[in-house]
Amino acid sequence: MLKVAILGATGYTGRELIKILLNHPEAQIVYLGTRREDRPQISQIHPELTGRIEAACEKLDMELVAGRTDFVFSCLPHTASMDFVPQCLDAGLKVVDISADYRLRDAQIYEKWYEAEHTDIQHLAESVYGLPELFADDITKARLVANPGCYPTGAILGLAPLVSRGLIELENIIIDAKSGISGAGRTPSPTLHFPECNESVAAYNVGVHRHTPEMDQILSQLAEKEISVTFVPHIVPMDRGILSTIYVHLAKEISQGEVEELFADFYKEAPFVLLRKDDLPATKDVWGTNFCHLALRSFGRKAVIVSAIDNLIKGASGQAVENMNLMAGFERTEGLL
Ligand SMILES: NC(=O)c1ccc[n+]([C@@H]2O[C@H](COP(=O)([O-])OP(=O)(O)OC[C@H]3O[C@@H](n4cnc5c(N)ncnc54)[C@H](OP(=O)(O)O)[C@@H]3O)[C@@H](O)[C@H]2O)c1
Repeated sequence: MLKVAILGATGYTGRELIKILLNHPEAQIVYLGTRREDRPQISQIHPELTGRIEAACEKLDMELVAGRTDFVFSCLPHTASMDFVPQCLDAGLKVVDISADYRLRDAQIYEKWYEAEHTDIQHLAESVYGLPELFADDITKARLVANPGCYPTGAILGLAPLVSRGLIELENIIIDAKSGISGAGRTPSPTLHFPECNESVAAYNVGVHRHTPEMDQILSQLAEKEISVTFVPHIVPMDRGILSTIYVHLAKEISQGEVEELFADFYKEAPFVLLRKDDLPATKDVWGTNFCHLALRSFGRKAVIVSAIDNLIKGASGQAVENMNLMAGFERTEGLL
């Protein structure tokens, strides 16, 4: 049994991770970390866990984690995560970091977009980007995996087959994405206050969203050429889910059937990517699941890809468990179907 610690167990991704791990036959939760001084039972924080797990949260202290655990999920905000990850690695533990701290290979790009110094360049160099559809072999060998951001997960999966085969004009990629409000985590803010965001859809952070360099990094790697996407995120009044509508110009005319064949071939061994041929995906279709549903439409030299994920599962905790499965040598789908 793999003994698992969760740092930041009181947040949304922590809650989803606990729910998934409670159904995982090979993993056992042995530590739940919080900064809270009152050390609450986890079911007091997440009432839906009542009767499913009896455990008190513990102080965020690596001495409590090392020696008791084999594997750590960090569900902390960026910058807080890299305070703890080095200590976990030094204690010989494997880590999946759900924050952004180890996703961008270039520390200067991190520092520019996140406006914070990167304090763990040593481990940044060894971290593997945890998108199993593209990097499963590297993930299997890794001791530190940077779990992808929620928007990049949906967008990269929608673009990877076309980009890696050189079939689109790389300067004309538009990602128009809509996210539920849990994407911003549990801490309230004025713009996410119910009367402010209910019955309303709004674009935000156009041109400056922190997930942009992550998409550029991975897509550029696939294309072996610099890519700079146009990414426009929107907030919509729903709890969870991300729908990305991706607009591309094809390098040459490709029929609908050919594009579908390309995607089917590219994802033939991907258990969590599902191609929708007859209809278009919606966020409800993937709610609470680790699936990414994709649909494609091509007309002349243009194509549209629609991608739906649950931001908290394939966009965070489900994908984190998928990565743990690969790193620990379990079935990739264990606990996730
Ligand atoms: N929400 C999503 O859809 C999503 C998707 C992909 C990735 N992520 C990333 O996953 C991480 C967690 O996201 P979340 O949505 O679960 O956030 P959240 O609901 O706000 O939870 C954050 C957790 O971190 C702890 N925390 C907050 N500030 C901290 C600090 N300065 N030092 C130590 N602990 C701190 C909080 O616990 P206490 O207050 O109890 O200590 C809480 O458990 C973030 O890095 C986020 O960017 C989120």
